Amino acid sequence: MAMEMKIKMSPQMQNHWADQHLLFLDDDISVLKSINRILIQKRVDWHFSFATCVAEALDLMSKTTFDMLITDIKMPGRDGFHFLKSLRESPDWADLPVIMVTGLDSPRIKTKAIEMGAADLLSKPIRPEELLARIHSVLLEKRKLDEYKAHNDYLRDLASEHSREIESGKIEMILRLAKAADFRSNEDGNHVIRVGYYAKILSEQLGVDRAFSDKLFITSPLHDIGKIALPDAVLMKSGKLTEKEWAITKSHCELGHDLLSPGLLKDRASSQNLSKMVSVVFDVYETTRNHLLDMAAEIALAHHEWYDGSGYPYGRKGEQIPLAARIVAIADSYDALRTKKSYRPAYEHGKALAMMQKLSSTQFDPHIFEEFEKCADDFKRIYLLESF
Ligand SMILES: [Fe+2]
Ligand SMILES: [Fe+2]
Repeated sequence: MAMEMKIKMSPQMQNHWADQHLLFLDDDISVLKSINRILIQKRVDWHFSFATCVAEALDLMSKTTFDMLITDIKMPGRDGFHFLKSLRESPDWADLPVIMVTGLDSPRIKTKAIEMGAADLLSKPIRPEELLARIHSVLLEKRKLDEYKAHNDYLRDLASEHSREIESGKIEMILRLAKAADFRSNEDGNHVIRVGYYAKILSEQLGVDRAFSDKLFITSPLHDIGKIALPDAVLMKSGKLTEKEWAITKSHCELGHDLLSPGLLKDRASSQNLSKMVSVVFDVYETTRNHLLDMAAEIALAHHEWYDGSGYPYGRKGEQIPLAARIVAIADSYDALRTKKSYRPAYEHGKALAMMQKLSSTQFDPHIFEEFEKCADDFKRIYLLESF
């Protein structure tokens, strides 16, 4: 019974959802009919199609681009789980949001569905309000992800489209160097990239101009680049640091700043006989240095300063701390709290937020923190992304 419906929309319903195309799959025609009735009664502004088996669904999918699949789990032949697995393995449909529907009330089914990549699970009998709310929220999620992907594409084209100063090769080099510092700190390399995303989201929430938030996205991953010059014995130590080791660790701020300011680095490298790696990095930067690195240098220097003046390395307070560093301080702390360390577990989103709230006005700029709380759900979404 493959069929396609297009609802005529009233003008006020012609919003950004109007082009969304949904596919419903259930072997029970009466279920599809009741969904059809719900959608018509509620005058939703989506296009939707119906299929009664996986083969029909695949046939429709070969002709139309769908934005979401709502599928029954228990069906004769290939069931919903099999279908979901094959979609996740297909390059064309790997990212298609899928809501699974089941008449079985079992937490195990829900866990399996989510583990296999379903966006949500609905129970039968389907309640109209719940159906629409779930579809709406999954579509919203998808739109956000699409925006992040589009932003990534935008960055790739940034040099040619918007700015002669930002060239993609330099951006790539910056991100790779940032990841190098992450690897040395036993991170997975994505911490610094996530910090870039958080910093951009937060700066946009603050209403700064586009050029600033773009620069912040690229430079904030370098906040810990100074760690590249720390001795392994300190950086990799899993136990408590001695006072001397702690002082060395804290020096990553100035080292990072100097690394990004080549003139200063040269003096330090020769006076402290730093590792060969530093000299190599220095050479790379000297040939690629541009104003982006000025922002990167100020972030590296000040991302551990506290708003009340009790941070390091200089105990700067309030607006003496550059805006970019005040933003990165929040981004970096959030990600650190969400991540497991050798001396403590990873904290859930809510717990991390609550811990940070206690530090608003002391560690964090209270105004920026207020804006962070408004977009904290986006931070959570970024943290949960598996790859970039
Ligand atoms: Fe740091
Ligand atoms: Fe960090």
